[in-house]
Order: sequence, then structure tokens, then C-alpha cells
Amino acid sequence: MKIAVFGAGYVGLVTGACFAELGHDVVVRDIATEKIETLRRGDVPIHEEGLAQLLEKNRERLTFTTEVENALAEADVVYVAVGTPPTHSGDADLTAVWTVVDELPRVERRIVLAMKSTVPVGTGNAVRHRLDERGLENVGYVSNPEFTAEGTAVRDFMHPDRIVIGAFDAGDGDVVEQLHAGIDAPVLRSDVKSAEMIKLAANAFLMTRISFINEIANVCEATGADVVKVAEGVGMDRRLGPHFLRAGIGYGGSCFPKDSLALKQLASNSGYHFQLLAAVIEVNELQKRRVVGKLERRLGSLRGKRIALLGLAFKPGTDDMREAPSLVLAARLQAEGAEVSAWDPVANAADQLDGVEIADSPLGALEGADAAVIVTEWPELRELDWAEAGVRMRNRLVVDGRNMLDPASLRALDFEYEGIGRAAE
Ligand SMILES: NC(=O)c1ccc[n+]([C@@H]2O[C@H](COP(=O)([O-])OP(=O)(O)OC[C@H]3O[C@@H](n4cnc5c(N)ncnc54)[C@H](O)[C@@H]3O)[C@@H](O)[C@H]2O)c1
Repeated sequence: MKIAVFGAGYVGLVTGACFAELGHDVVVRDIATEKIETLRRGDVPIHEEGLAQLLEKNRERLTFTTEVENALAEADVVYVAVGTPPTHSGDADLTAVWTVVDELPRVERRIVLAMKSTVPVGTGNAVRHRLDERGLENVGYVSNPEFTAEGTAVRDFMHPDRIVIGAFDAGDGDVVEQLHAGIDAPVLRSDVKSAEMIKLAANAFLMTRISFINEIANVCEATGADVVKVAEGVGMDRRLGPHFLRAGIGYGGSCFPKDSLALKQLASNSGYHFQLLAAVIEVNELQKRRVVGKLERRLGSLRGKRIALLGLAFKPGTDDMREAPSLVLAARLQAEGAEVSAWDPVANAADQLDGVEIADSPLGALEGADAAVIVTEWPELRELDWAEAGVRMRNRLVVDGRNMLDPASLRALDFEYEGIGRAAE
């Protein structure tokens, strides 16, 4: 089939590349001219495992354009993968979605508009209404939410746990289902509103697990239990499972923070106060700041102390800095008078981290540091020569915000080690 994808971001590019891999002809359209030029040159504007190879392999079935007409010329299905960032009120900003809807020209043939962007429940109905108002009855509408995670997005797309398709018209749902032929996964068909809610609820549940285990970690710290062991034991229960039970300094990224706010707002706009979600969000905000308290307990005042942030991206495997905990941490540390140095293997964060010294290696960032804070669990940090790091640092203290290092080996190198929810020395 012929597919147009609107949005060449993290989701749009993976969607386009994967559909091309499945044998479809894909045109990816973005309004950002420089992104389209980069893609036409054969380069990839984002860091996502396996994406560059997939784009290269399927070059013949993929084109990139800034023009709506080129994208829609022959499309059977138009995917919407534009951003839906939060507004000041916390609601999802659907400006880019509406632009795409309003750009659709009148067509004689039937085409399907498939929504991949994460949108509030009721968006599909509103889009349907707008299309009908414009006389575009032969444009079908399907909600086909995206569950891929950055860092593993290509694998997640090709091997999903499920494909959710919510349609007003069963035939339109069938078209979207056929697009996925070749992917071995259960398909859940539903009404449009339920498909929209599945995405929001799934995200909210994952965040709930994270904030839950983070609170357990905080109680572990107060009582001397070790959250790593606790999570292992809890996760062995088949009713609970082991996923999303890693204590740390909180979630970030382009989805969880905004989608939790959007769901909370959606609920309150509908007259319901979603208490649990409000607590999940608050716990996460506090969690990011706990590192500062840990550093102060070990170092006293942070004024003039040099703190190295290891990892900046909101998680490993991506260069995405949206809502990264590192941004909050750097600002809090600077507010306490600390000098901050930082390293990340792919995130280009200098413009967002005013006054932070960006090093091009972990050891560079650790030079003269009073403490190292593990912010993102990049594998490079597990493999780092920590003996050498100890020589470079002014003071041997590691605050492991992701519980990724082995406390015993660091302590054997004369480091003070503190994780999240792990027994102190
Ligand atoms: N990032 C993820 O892992 C992920 C996962 C699941 C769902 N989502 C959802 O998918 C959507 C896209 O997220 P993203 O991370 O890819 O965003 P992104 O910011 O990386 O990409 C969005 C792209 O859309 C482009 N755009 C804006 N208006 C446009 C228009 N009229 N026509 C064509 N392109 C236009 C922007 O220039 C940008 O390149 C969001 O709703 C997000 O919540 C994201």
C-alpha cells in the first residue's frame, strides 16, 4: 500500500522505516526543511538503534518531502505522527494535529487518516466532525496508538505486544490491520475512544509502577532494606511481573511526563479528580530532587563543589533530552552553588544546560569532581575504568541514580557508594 507519514520525528521516522520494511511505499512529510534535507542526504536526524540501517535498506520505498501534495498524491493511508506537547494548562496541544487535518485536500478515492500521535480521548470524534464539516466524508479515521519506547523503537514496532486499532468504520480498521501484515502480534480492535484511552492508561500504569517502586525505595532507605532485592522478589510474582520495577531518580522523556499531565487534565476537565495519577506525578518530581539531598548529606554544602552528571538523555539508547531528569538536577545543583560537569555519548544538550561544562568522555567529566552522579544507565558507565576515575576525582563519591553499578566493587576501590533504596555502607 501507499502510506504518507506526517511528522519525521522519533515516531514518524520509525513508523515510516518499518512500514517500508514491510513492503509498503512510504512518503514521510515534515515541515522542518532541515530534517527533510538531512534525510534526503541519507543521514538520520535522531539517534535510534537500527533506524539508520532500516532507512538505508529500504531507500527505494521511502521518500521525504515538505510538500503536502507530494505526500498525499497516491496515499491510501495518512499517518499522523506530529508532536502533541503540553500546553500551559497541561492539556495536550493539538495544534499540529489540526494543521494536518486541515491540510487534507478533498479526494475522490477513500483514504484513511490513522492517528499515531498520543491524543486525549475524544480527539477522534472531534476530527471526524471537522472532516465531515469540510465535506471529507471519504476520509476514514482510525486510532492506531504507538507503544514503542525510544532506544528500542524499531524492535518494538516490528515485534509489538499488540496492535490497537480503534475505528468508526470496520473497513477502515481492516485497511490499517492489513498494513501490519507480516507482524506477528495480537490485534485488538475497538471503538476510537477506547483505543485512545488504552494508550493513555498503559502509559499511566507504567508510570504508576515506577513511582510505586521509587516510594518503596525511599522506605527501604529509611528501614535498611535493599530495593533491588525487594523488586526482584516482588517481580517474581506472576500476578505482578518484573517490568518497570527499577527504582531510580524518576522517569522523564517526551511521553510519560506530558501524557500523565494530559490524562490528569482530561479527567479533571471531565469532572473527575484522578488522585492516584496526581500522586504518581508528584512522587516523580520529588524523586528527581532526592539526589541533591544525598549529595548534601555526604558533602555538606554544595557551594563550590564539582559534581559530574554521567548521562544526560532521559534514558539510554536515545539522544532525546525532553523532560530529562538531568535538566532538573543540573539546575538544582547550580542553584545550590555547585559547579556541574557532564557527559553523554549521544545527547547534544549544551544549549539546554547553561553553565554546565560538557566533557567528551566520562573520565573528562570526572576530572576534579567531588561526586559522580549516574543519571542515565549508559552501558559505557558499567564498563568504565572506575579505578582510573577515582584517580581523576577530587573525592571518591558515586551517587548511582539508576542502581546500575556494583556497590561492592566500587567500595573495594575506596569509593563511597550510594544508590537509590539500597542499604548504606
Ligand atoms: N517519542 C516516542 O517514543 C513516542 C512513543 C509513543 C507515542 N508518541 C507520540 O507520538 C507523537 C510524536 O512524537 P515524537 O516523539 O515523534 O515527536 P517529535 O517532536 O520527535 O516529532 C514530531 C514531528 O512532527 C513535525 N510536524 C509538526 N507539524 C507538522 C505538520 N503539519 N506536518 C508534518 N510534520 C509536522 C515536527 O516538525 C517534528 O519533526 C506525540 O504525540 C507523542 O506523544 C511518541
